[in-house]
Amino acid sequence: MTTLVVDNIGLLVTNDPSLGVGALGIVHDAALVLEDGRVAAVEKAGAAADEGIDAAGRCVIPGFVDSHTHLVFAGDRSDEFAARMAGAPYRAGGIRVTTQATRAASADKLAKLATGRRDEALRAGITHLEIKSGYGLDAESEARSCSVAAGFTDDVTFLGAHVVPPEYEGRADDYVALVCGDMLAACAPHARWIDVFCEVGAFDADQSRAVLEAGRDAGLGLRVHGNQLGPGPGVRLAVELGAASVDHCTFLGDDDVAALAASDTVATFLPATEFSTRQPYPDVRRVIDAGASVALATNCNPGSSYTTSMSFCIALAVRDMGMTIEEALAAATRGGAQALRRTDIGHLARGARADVVVLDAPSPAHLVYRPGVPLIAMTISSGCVVWTAETRVTEVAREVRGERADS
Ligand code: NIG
Repeated sequence: MTTLVVDNIGLLVTNDPSLGVGALGIVHDAALVLEDGRVAAVEKAGAAADEGIDAAGRCVIPGFVDSHTHLVFAGDRSDEFAARMAGAPYRAGGIRVTTQATRAASADKLAKLATGRRDEALRAGITHLEIKSGYGLDAESEARSCSVAAGFTDDVTFLGAHVVPPEYEGRADDYVALVCGDMLAACAPHARWIDVFCEVGAFDADQSRAVLEAGRDAGLGLRVHGNQLGPGPGVRLAVELGAASVDHCTFLGDDDVAALAASDTVATFLPATEFSTRQPYPDVRRVIDAGASVALATNCNPGSSYTTSMSFCIALAVRDMGMTIEEALAAATRGGAQALRRTDIGHLARGARADVVVLDAPSPAHLVYRPGVPLIAMTISSGCVVWTAETRVTEVAREVRGERADS
């Protein structure tokens, strides 16, 4: 049996109200016992073992669950971002630029690029990723992307219906037939989910419904990109078809909010997208107050949100989207798990996957209070330390512990 103890935790977020205080299940002065990749126990600090990881009084949280990423792609679109900062609008058509580069890249090249982004995500405290295809847009390239994504996660999403590729210009229905036919057949063996970009400039409600129903018939769970660039049918379609999550939700009408509140479809918000596209930030407070379930994700992609920083997303959600710090942290952990319909991650109760993050801070508030500062001191994935910044944290840890720097 492999045992790892994280001891001297000043503030532990378990996300299990039965284990501690409030919705985050906070336990002070705790030790976390990890056995064979799972959480075995939450104990009093110092009670667990002589050896292990000394959290030095800092805050420990569940690893972030990033339920919306597009990590498999090639090519650079920083020019497009710079143009937006100079006033150009975000358009769905930019996806095609990435498509050219992604089609030209080998599986090895795509895997290498995705590995770099996955490693960046681990350093950012993300211990579970959903990864979408969607930049190949032909059967062979989409299957290659899904297969590469499957090397990183069991939450692979087939997103052939990301945008109509140039060779199908003016023949969107023919492209939808390809997505629902040969492309789906090639991708489904690698995927758990199907997704569609239901938006003006991408796919309308009928086309989106056809894609989702074909995916469901092939045994895939449903996800939707909805209401990103304007009001539209995406959210209501997702709810009607029982999608696990509808993502973006930037433009929500009262009927959309009511539909979400009456469903078990999670509304997933992607604040770094609003940051990068200069769109208005959605009012998540309104959605939470209506009773809907919410998640936060990075939407890491080359066009609308090229970041792996969940801490940045949390800071934006609190600063600009009406969420409390506790709600934002829960949405980036337990909420992400819910959006992926998983109970094994996003919390630190006995039996959960041992995905743990030590913050270089005494409380989760610092994720927002100290925006842009790398506060992830250590990332533990399935009970193994996969990233540590311990060499650089000594002085900060001393301050958190209240020690003098020269002691
Ligand atoms: O989630 N909305 C569609 N897909 C991505 C953007 C992709 C791109 O611009 O490359 C998103 O924002």
